Amino acid sequence: MTGTTGARLDGVGVVKQFGGLTAVDDLTVHVEAGEVVALIGPNGAGKTTLFQCLTGGERPDAGRVLLDDQDITAKSPDARARLGIGRTFQRLAVFPTMTVADNLGVGAENRTNSGTVVRVGALLLGILGFAFEDIRRHRARVEEVLDQLDLQQVRDAPAGTLSTGTLRLVELGRALCHDPRVLLLDEPASGLDIAETQHLQHVIRDVAASGVAVLLVEHDVDLVFDVADRVYAMAEGRLIATGGPDEIRRDPAVLEAYLDVTYVDVEAPS
Ligand SMILES: Nc1ncnc2c1ncn2[C@@H]1O[C@H](COP(=O)(O)OP(=O)(O)OP(=O)(O)O)[C@@H](O)[C@H]1O
Ligand SMILES: [Mg+2]
Repeated sequence: MTGTTGARLDGVGVVKQFGGLTAVDDLTVHVEAGEVVALIGPNGAGKTTLFQCLTGGERPDAGRVLLDDQDITAKSPDARARLGIGRTFQRLAVFPTMTVADNLGVGAENRTNSGTVVRVGALLLGILGFAFEDIRRHRARVEEVLDQLDLQQVRDAPAGTLSTGTLRLVELGRALCHDPRVLLLDEPASGLDIAETQHLQHVIRDVAASGVAVLLVEHDVDLVFDVADRVYAMAEGRLIATGGPDEIRRDPAVLEAYLDVTYVDVEAPS
């Protein structure tokens, strides 16, 4: 592993409104170095909006975001990435014609979350401008991450030929090549089969064990209950419960929120 150390990320009193709708209503959450924290809740609860406020895609209307007590509320997503906040995207964002190893290399050589053109440009400029030692160090980091994620056997395959499950790992790998201190995962198990989900659980635990603070937003509550140290459950923009997986699993408010969703999904009135 590299010398990365984890950091603590706090969202304090975060409020985000869209017109008359309060999507996130005065939420306070935190994740510490070495910890896996999950954010769950029914559709429309405000999970993605809170995630966006933490990663910089949305600016909160009130409240603050702190990285190791430094106020980063006004910082752009790129600035947050440079400070060590890594993330994956719900919608897969890989370069289909590039190999798995090269997809990870983009992450290693450019620590921003800019658009494709900027990223590839920065990759090329980065290679030209880098000292040999930097290139060697980045390549070594890519190899470490390929090992860590069990991706060596597909390292030379074009990303576009791989399954969704493998691509989710590629995206996670690219984030890991940034050496994040805090890693935020948006529905990382979406589209994965059971074996892939188990592998992902193992990887998430491994990343946290290396000291990184991990926050995941996830619909798959089985994944959450198996992997999380702590869980925040949200509904309608508010926290309805927080605690260890065993407490959350039995929490009446959580059960009600999820049962309501099941009821509406199955027997939606016309
Ligand atoms: N950009 C936006 N403009 C207007 N309303 C929005 C916007 N983004 C989210 N919302 C609304 O805010 C509320 C919370 O949405 P959000 O996407 O954060 O929920 P979620 O918990 O991530 O839901 P899901 O599980 O369906 O992904 C919803 O009512 C949604 O319609
Ligand atoms: Mg969402």
